[in-house]
Amino acid sequence: MKIGIFDSGLGGLYIANAIRTYLPEYDYVYLGDTLHVPYGRRAVDTVYELTRKAIDYLFSEQDCALIIVACNTASALALRRIQQEYLVKAYPNRRVLGVIVPTLEHAADHKLRRIGMLATEAMCNSGIYEEELGKIDPDVQLFAQSAPLLVPMLEHDGWDFLDQALEKYLSPLHEKKIDSLILGCTHYCLLKEKIAAYLGSGVTLVSQDELIPEKLGSYLNKHSWLEAKLSKEGQFNVGITDVSRSFCATAEDIVGPSIGKIQRIDLL
Ligand code: DGL
Repeated sequence: MKIGIFDSGLGGLYIANAIRTYLPEYDYVYLGDTLHVPYGRRAVDTVYELTRKAIDYLFSEQDCALIIVACNTASALALRRIQQEYLVKAYPNRRVLGVIVPTLEHAADHKLRRIGMLATEAMCNSGIYEEELGKIDPDVQLFAQSAPLLVPMLEHDGWDFLDQALEKYLSPLHEKKIDSLILGCTHYCLLKEKIAAYLGSGVTLVSQDELIPEKLGSYLNKHSWLEAKLSKEGQFNVGITDVSRSFCATAEDIVGPSIGKIQRIDLL
């Protein structure tokens, strides 16, 4: 059985790449919902329904034993309900993991105290990061900043306009004297250098491509019953729900020549 990696679009391929590099032996299938990206301004029920369909596809059509919801927005708006209601009934012996709790555990382990977070609007409005952080360490302060323009700019070749948008989103966080910044969206891995240059060396960047692979490795070590089900041929397949030339070009840019044929997936 495989490991599924789901994202609203193509940004999750950065997380998928990092996971494959760290744990190359397993078989992976990536699903990007390019037909409905961006999720970041959608209603909670819509994100739940889209995520549920994606999970259903990865379990029933792709024989995944475990799915990583790499999308922060889907992790925030849909994961808990999927785990507590849907999974228990439909796939009790399989698992779906998100990226929020591991990210916060990483931040707490590194003794970060004034954490900024850049994320989509829906994710900031969800309040999930604050809620989960309260359980891990209620004394840590979190300053959330939504950055609605960044994903559209990154998806549409808008690099020339990024500096102005980053200034707008990062300056309020800078004023809060944050000691760290969570890049709370799959796409923001791309912006690490620009953000680090803006915030300076006193601010630690928490980037999910650098922490999720290790967290997944230790999850698999602790859950040997699940690990034993995973096939180990090092395969990687990519499927997206809208196969345009530009989506394929972006996916190929991120993954490189090993990407193979990108499949078009219809989610029911
Ligand atoms: N992939 C999403 C996330 O990590 C961001 C893009 C979107 O708005 O769909 O939150």
